[in-house]
Amino acid sequence: MWKRSARGRTQNWKPRPRGGARPGAEPRPPPPVVPRPADDTSWDEVASWYDALVGEKGSSYHRDIVIPGALRLLAPRPKESVLDLACGQGVFCRALHKLGVAVTGVDASERLISLARSRSSPTIRYEVADARSMAALPRQGFDAVACLLAIENIDSVGPVFAECARVLRPGGRLVLVIMHPCFRIPRQSGWGWDEGRQLQFRRVDSYLSEMKVPIQVHPGSDPGQITWTFHRPLAAYVKALASAGLLVQTLEEWPSTRVSQPGLRAQAENRARDEIPMFLALKAVSIDASAPPPTQPREPSRPSGRARMARRPRRKDGPRNKKK
Ligand SMILES: C[S@@+](CC[C@H](N)C(=O)[O-])C[C@H]1O[C@@H](n2cnc3c(N)ncnc32)[C@H](O)[C@@H]1O
Repeated sequence: MWKRSARGRTQNWKPRPRGGARPGAEPRPPPPVVPRPADDTSWDEVASWYDALVGEKGSSYHRDIVIPGALRLLAPRPKESVLDLACGQGVFCRALHKLGVAVTGVDASERLISLARSRSSPTIRYEVADARSMAALPRQGFDAVACLLAIENIDSVGPVFAECARVLRPGGRLVLVIMHPCFRIPRQSGWGWDEGRQLQFRRVDSYLSEMKVPIQVHPGSDPGQITWTFHRPLAAYVKALASAGLLVQTLEEWPSTRVSQPGLRAQAENRARDEIPMFLALKAVSIDASAPPPTQPREPSRPSGRARMARRPRRKDGPRNKKK
């Protein structure tokens, strides 16, 4: 597991042996500095902070919007096998487990997986793995896959969706919940106030360009601690899903349920919040790409007008258009 040091250098993270150098011993060479892979997007460094934020049952967004919405779309049945991709500290795994589902949670962060294990029933299986390559998980081993508030934190979606298609049985469901890519674009969108019309509006400064944006977790106290967010336009998600054989069946847009404190702008703020969704949810179904295409009952081809005329039997009593 790779970890960024406090000074911002990257290095292979292993606990250092305790105690100083023995007198007379050769000075120890500095530990090798191994660059953290540029696409390592694990939340290992912010694991304790994220665990405290989410807690046992989830943040208020998890509890009020994301978990109930994802469960409704996923519609898991008892004993079904469900994978929670980029599961973090296991908040959704625990919600699934309560429904009698056989749950597996996967995340790239060792620390979040160990927190997930400490918070969950031992019957939930947790694995540290990269969502883009989950060799430990069997082909067609799951009835459904969920990925909540995480696909936008993973570098490149093509390999993730290919892995989803590999581990889903044909007809299996994938549910993604994403910060809405049309309205919640880090550093490129935000609320504004129109004084003349007395309304709150959402401005979007950039949308079609894909972007990798660092997000400071503690801008004041520890500006160096960041996570990565990858902005992609909605079409990029749908195109990548289709390329993996995952056909979008449902798209939903969920607003925030927060309410402004009473005040001059409260009504306008609440209206804007209700109108402009915070989350996008997509449900896709895995089609078996290896299966032959379904045979469509073929309609007899309709001949063109001229051909129809040519085929029409000649009337025996004379030329076609002759009136009696
Ligand atoms: C915002 S957290 C969401 C976690 C969880 N789904 C939840 O709702 O609380 C994003 C998660 O994505 C994980 N992640 C980022 N890149 C990943 C990758 N390539 N493979 C697996 N997990 C990854 C992070 O470690 C982090 O736990």
